[in-house]
Amino acid sequence: MIAIGIIGYGTVGSGVYEVIQTNRESIAKRAGEEITVKRICDLRDFPGDPAEALLTKDFKELAEDPEIRIIVETMGGVQPAYDYVKMALEHGKSVCTSNKELVARHGSELLAIAKERSLNFLFEASVGGGIPIIRPLNQALTADEIVEIKGILNGTTNYILTKMTREGAEYEEVLREAQEKGYAERNPEADVEGHDACRKIAILTSLAYGSQVDYEDIHTEGITQITKTDIAYAKAMDAAIKLLGSSKRQGKIYAQVAPVLVRSDHPLYGVNDVFNAIFVKGNVLGEVMFYGRGAGKLPTASAVVSDVIDAVKHKNTNIMTLWSSKKLELGCFEDSASRFFVRVPESERKQAQKLFQADGFQEIKAEGITGEYAFLTGVLTEREYAKKAEELSVLNRIRAAF
Ligand code: HSE
Repeated sequence: MIAIGIIGYGTVGSGVYEVIQTNRESIAKRAGEEITVKRICDLRDFPGDPAEALLTKDFKELAEDPEIRIIVETMGGVQPAYDYVKMALEHGKSVCTSNKELVARHGSELLAIAKERSLNFLFEASVGGGIPIIRPLNQALTADEIVEIKGILNGTTNYILTKMTREGAEYEEVLREAQEKGYAERNPEADVEGHDACRKIAILTSLAYGSQVDYEDIHTEGITQITKTDIAYAKAMDAAIKLLGSSKRQGKIYAQVAPVLVRSDHPLYGVNDVFNAIFVKGNVLGEVMFYGRGAGKLPTASAVVSDVIDAVKHKNTNIMTLWSSKKLELGCFEDSASRFFVRVPESERKQAQKLFQADGFQEIKAEGITGEYAFLTGVLTEREYAKKAEELSVLNRIRAAF
């Protein structure tokens, strides 16, 4: 039997306890021995909870318990999670976490500590919730050089964009409704401004290329500027607007988070509601896509428990994860290129045509929208686009993945 401790008994932490209780027998078979939760650390009280007797407010009771071999960290946020995780590793315990802020900020350092001590630091649930993506990148796709990763990495924004598309509703209206139903946080900034997706693409890019990607270096835009008019034009182009976290190797690695027009023939087009999907292109495998629930109590807990099982199977053996602390110098965002969908006032039609008329230029019309002129540019770098756009009063612009 192996004893584990959990820090953070919120949605995911209590999900981990529930999954271990529910699937006790099958988990024991897969891990090779029974897994039991011995202690749970949380500053809050949970009167009447089935795990009430296991609760403590003092993390030392977990860190200093020699019977506890694995710590599950489901607190979220960088501090104090970082101190606790480091303490756990220094006390000879493997750590399994769902905490993307912690992994994006300190992943390489915590992996190095785990390696030095023949322990494991595992984080399957930090990206894509219940979708297996970390283990595939680290173990299954290792014959490939990764050429591109493109993901719908945030369920809240995908839900909002899907609803705007289905109902022709404005962003604010859908956000308010999503908050009322508990799908969106009261403070939705991390989701709607793209910060959550940014941390996730930073983790995936670090793993894909084996070096540290600092999320502060990734150009990030959210969905707050998207209107129902943009959605109407997207439909006219047989496309949908998706918040994509992406990284692409074109000489250097270019990474960004932004709303992007995705056409109906792309597999990411059909990923709707709170679902996430990660599309990966390898140089020998070609294209592969991972799809599922990117958040939620049990899907996320399922990924954490799969890490716990892996840690049990690899007691005293470090599972090698290539992610050095050496910083990956990303290509300059201004040099990255795409087509742009642009809307300007009708009065600027001629000026827009003069500036952007080139291969690939295409006028776009959407039913019922008047008083403005919309078009798709040819492929331009960010720098080229920005220089031309300076001469127009752009109403909105969205990059296109086609
Ligand atoms: N807020 C995140 C989302 C939760 O909406 O996808 C999972 O990280």
